[in-house]
Amino acid sequence: MTSGRKKLIFGNWKMNCLVADQANFISELEKNRSNFANPSVKVAVFPPFTLLNLLSIQLKQFPVVELGAQDLFYENKGAYTGEISPVQLKDIGCEYVLVGHSERRHLIGEKDDLLSKKVSAAIDAGLKVVFCIGEKLEQRDRNLQLETVSRQLSALTGIKNLTAENLVVAYEPVWAIGTGRNATGAQAQEMHKYIREVMKVRSSQFAEELHILYGGSVKSANIEEIISKPDVDGALIGGASIVWNEFFDIISKVNKLVG
Ligand code: PGA
Repeated sequence: MTSGRKKLIFGNWKMNCLVADQANFISELEKNRSNFANPSVKVAVFPPFTLLNLLSIQLKQFPVVELGAQDLFYENKGAYTGEISPVQLKDIGCEYVLVGHSERRHLIGEKDDLLSKKVSAAIDAGLKVVFCIGEKLEQRDRNLQLETVSRQLSALTGIKNLTAENLVVAYEPVWAIGTGRNATGAQAQEMHKYIREVMKVRSSQFAEELHILYGGSVKSANIEEIISKPDVDGALIGGASIVWNEFFDIISKVNKLVG
């Protein structure tokens, strides 16, 4: 495997699942325990805030599955009604947090300067950030995809203490998210290679060790094509991550691929 990078299979549950669903997830996890023994494959789930604490407690019996949150605020505490702080996420056992998911960029209107603050705060609190980037369809149609992701990555410029350990980049073309239309392996590889090139601004070693995930309509039927590309270090999976059999099937295919 290139540069000691692992394959990361991350499930973003988005605004889905109730207490009963996550109980079901845990019992399916129990049945699929053997699926999680590969040291080269790392699995994490990103449930909604309402399930984080419960899942954190239940995942103690499955230390191979890590926990992440889907968003955070950039202050540690205070009068910010409705927000959740990095310190609070760390406190209940979160390892990761998503920042800049396209649904937050485009539905909620989060901009680069806000995302920079969120990344900084998360890193300072000891969380690992999955920083999501990706172009919209009209940007790809106008051949602006490289320019778009390069601008999105510039939100990381100037953030101290970023390492290839505490940062993961997820390339998620907006036109592929939840649409059933995934990027081809070749399109993902082209973009991931470019992202790695851009990240050399930090250092060649940083870029080489950085995990870059692909996201957008990943399922068991296309995981092999996507993940077999040299610069694709895993997948951020939405819809297929809450169909438990499908999620476990994806993990077992990745296990086989990495040996
Ligand atoms: P999808 O979502 O797999 O449902 O396309 C991916 C994501 O938004 O992270």
